[in-house]
Amino acid sequence: LESAGLVAFGQAESAEGVEEARIEFLGQKQGRLKAAQERLKTLEPAAKRGYGQRFNAVKQALEAACDGAKARLERPASLEDRGIDLTLPGHRPRLGHRHPLTQTADELIDLFGRFGFAVARGPEVEDVRHNFEALNIPPSHPARDPLDNFYLSEGTMLRSQTSTVQIRVMENQPPPVRVIAIGRVYRPDTVDATHSFMFHQIEGLMVDRGVTMADLKTVLRLFAQSYLGEDVQIRFRPSFFPFTEPSVEVDMLWHGGDRWVEMGGAGMVDPNVFRAVGYDPDEVTGFAFGLGIERLCMRRHKIDDIRLLYQNDVRFLSQF
Ligand code: PHE
Repeated sequence: LESAGLVAFGQAESAEGVEEARIEFLGQKQGRLKAAQERLKTLEPAAKRGYGQRFNAVKQALEAACDGAKARLERPASLEDRGIDLTLPGHRPRLGHRHPLTQTADELIDLFGRFGFAVARGPEVEDVRHNFEALNIPPSHPARDPLDNFYLSEGTMLRSQTSTVQIRVMENQPPPVRVIAIGRVYRPDTVDATHSFMFHQIEGLMVDRGVTMADLKTVLRLFAQSYLGEDVQIRFRPSFFPFTEPSVEVDMLWHGGDRWVEMGGAGMVDPNVFRAVGYDPDEVTGFAFGLGIERLCMRRHKIDDIRLLYQNDVRFLSQF
């Protein structure tokens, strides 16, 4: 009886199956256990004791097997039973995305990559040699003024321009060179709608035999049209940088169409810079440029205040 019951409960595959086994073995009216109990009454008193103990053990085992089978087959109440409507739209998780400045940087890397420029990197904590000396900026030059730079300890500073990377690249490889470098630069400027004490630049450097100013203007114009649109207007103004000769400043017509905003500086690499890194200025020529990434991003997305790019207000960021 016991083993037959255990098998029946153990093999039951549905609630109905368990119920059938329960009725067969534990049923109050005609169950097999009930029958065994009836037999107890017919026994001699001497036999009753042992039989009774055995009876109780079997009864407990079968009841436990019955409970176990029920628990095994019990399914949680369905979602519908719990009042949950699976056809309702769910809560859409809010996904993050890249910051607009990072998007701009990635796009510039992609664009210049198609012009054949590889990506170079340099440290933000720089030495004075890479930030000034090798760039033909003598100790007396006003660009070195402590009021215009973040000097750190002995001969180091937060770089004020990514032109430092030009030097690092040329120190480490012979010409030809065609690289860009993107990163943060630091200047103690007063913060306003178009200035910040930290911003990002993209530096470009191309050195080879016979590189000319026409190449520089072509690359910058093609780049501006690719990133800002075919109809963008840019202009080159004569300027001066110690590390380029001749030098220009590059302006773009702002998105309102009513004013020119400086995009950055550029020019033909000064022979003194080539000498500082061991290149022969009679062998190669080159151009370099340094553009502000924030302003490119602002012109592209019609953003009017640079500070929005640093405040990380999700209402602003989620628009890009
Ligand atoms: N380094 C210059 C600046 O920060 C920009 C520049 C780069 C000019 C390369 C000429 C050549 O203003």
